[in-house]
Amino acid sequence: MQVVIVEQPGDVASFAASRISDVVARVAASGKRAVLGVATGSSPLGTYRALAELVSRGHLDTTGVSAFALDEYVGLDYAHPESYHSVVTRTVTEPLALDPRRVHVPDGLADDLPAACSRYEEQIRAAGGIDVQLLGIGANGHIGFNEPTSSLNSRTRLKTLAKRTRDDNARFFDSPDQVPIHCLTQGLATILDARQALLVAQGVGKAEAIAAAVEGPVSAMCPASVLQLHSHATVVVDEAAASRLRLRDYYSYVLTNLPSGDR
Ligand code: F6R
Repeated sequence: MQVVIVEQPGDVASFAASRISDVVARVAASGKRAVLGVATGSSPLGTYRALAELVSRGHLDTTGVSAFALDEYVGLDYAHPESYHSVVTRTVTEPLALDPRRVHVPDGLADDLPAACSRYEEQIRAAGGIDVQLLGIGANGHIGFNEPTSSLNSRTRLKTLAKRTRDDNARFFDSPDQVPIHCLTQGLATILDARQALLVAQGVGKAEAIAAAVEGPVSAMCPASVLQLHSHATVVVDEAAASRLRLRDYYSYVLTNLPSGDR
């Protein structure tokens, strides 16, 4: 796992956007179209703005690029401004000029939710798998909506949101009781299938979760720690989110002394 500690919260976004943009360009150069995995929540918003800026300046061509969201609330109308269908349209599809037909979000309104989850897995497979998965992290260590004790081998499925997650997400709704209780989420094994994982976190509120994910044991108690099993995972954090990491000096030392092939 590569840990990148940047000085300012805004640098997290520019680092992540440049990494994603490189992936899109590299995949295009091989004659294919990139498949992005996109997170919702506030952490990746700066990254999407930075990517949108690259698109509007003509530095990033998103023609043919597709995207898969990590998760969706169950039972929330797609037209609701906080459904992830709406959030992804507003923060990803439109600003990055993606073709809406190539942007996928789990179907939290399906009559048969387990079937919708299997279909979602199949859609990801049919698209050739995810080239780069952007992730945020919950204060309790969740990625996607894989709450603590989620199976490290899980696939897209129906889950119950932890009370802490509902409390944290209440800021997006008019009142806490409007936050849905259930969700569909890519599983931890689904996330591990992405060819590259890029986790972004800013602020001291994420410091404990980041320390557990990067330096703690691989454990379902901190679902993000499963990224330690990924062969190409990068964690990009500002100083505040890095403040509980024990090996901070080592991560900076590694970055300034990368083997030439890794630069
Ligand atoms: C949402 C998701 C979640 C969020 C996490 C952090 O699609 O994947 O894991 O990334 O809840 O949320 P923020 O960024 O709002 O702190």
